[in-house]
Amino acid sequence: MKLPALAAAFIAILLPNVSIPPKGGVRQVHTSPFGNTHDGQPITRYALTNKKGVEAFIINYGATLESLKVPDRNGKTEDIVLGYDDVAGYENGKAYFGGTIGRYGNRIARGQFTLDGSVYHIPTNDGPNSLHGGTIGFNKRVWTATDRSTANAQVLELGYTSPDGEQGFPGALEVKVTYTLPDDSSELRIGYSAAADKDTVLNLTNHSYFNLTGNPTVKILDHQLTLYAEKFTPVNATLIPTGELRSVRGTPFDFTTATAIGARIQQDDEQLTFGKGYDHNWVLDGREKGGLAVAAEVFEPSSGRVLEVSTTEPGVQFYSGNFLDGTARGKGGASYGYRTGLCLETQHFPDSPNHANFPSTELRAGQTYQSITVLRFSTRK
Ligand code: GLA
Repeated sequence: MKLPALAAAFIAILLPNVSIPPKGGVRQVHTSPFGNTHDGQPITRYALTNKKGVEAFIINYGATLESLKVPDRNGKTEDIVLGYDDVAGYENGKAYFGGTIGRYGNRIARGQFTLDGSVYHIPTNDGPNSLHGGTIGFNKRVWTATDRSTANAQVLELGYTSPDGEQGFPGALEVKVTYTLPDDSSELRIGYSAAADKDTVLNLTNHSYFNLTGNPTVKILDHQLTLYAEKFTPVNATLIPTGELRSVRGTPFDFTTATAIGARIQQDDEQLTFGKGYDHNWVLDGREKGGLAVAAEVFEPSSGRVLEVSTTEPGVQFYSGNFLDGTARGKGGASYGYRTGLCLETQHFPDSPNHANFPSTELRAGQTYQSITVLRFSTRK
């Protein structure tokens, strides 16, 4: 039904949180208040929904995927990501639940790298190293949000301008993260674009913790994981890659066929000891061709839910929630215990600015950075 423009404008003024079907049948993203930051900035929650029963909730604090509801094999829709009920949770939290990670996903050794002959220093916040962009990463920033919905998809674009020198990184950077939920397919696309006014480095990702059971008190050890990767990047005791690309064959890191996460996690293996479980970057196969390709698949037997992750990125950090210790008070008062969420952070390799043999994370002044990750949901018997 088409509303005359004037009537629609009046309704919009009277009822700001009611979405009105605008011209051309575009369904706009529904918004609701999510509370304020400690310094009084209002945060909004955006609800993307589709005909397949997928619901994605995003907040503009950290451009964070706050909830993701998908049906199980019986059609029961449940939230499959960890998160908090309020802004204070995200402001105080240390686990990066659902957040957009930048400028640099994962670690930079000693918070230091050289670019174009200059040495840059990023605050160290993980032992001797810098993790996820320094002490105040993109997950702790307030982003702008713009509804870019089309006739076939609900689309939310989030924007942030990172000033020159923020957390020590060179160049002012304009970054956009776009969440797209198509009406007719069970997938959520996360697109990234950015440009800087000086040569810099950039490695963006999303830090969602999945628990496909829909019950975050259950460990993720029975989830069956496939990683389309013949190699991984082994690390030292502070989780910095040594530079080696090592074959997964004959190791607990071989997920080339679907294997329960818990099947080998307790094995006596130096890399598992360093990671306190899985917390490593896998080198995705066939990336020299470029383009979007499947990186990982997760199947959860009790619910039948399947998550397939595709990306244009060359690597994926699979993290088995080894630092969750029950202290985080999550959604609905849940306490998130050891290994109750798993992350598949699609990205360039950790510490690439210090490894000439890794795919480059340099972003030259005026060039456009682009990256896409697609989460596809289905169910199986
Ligand atoms: C990444 C890191 C982990 C951990 C989590 C957040 O996955 O590799 O070591 O820091 O983020 O807790």
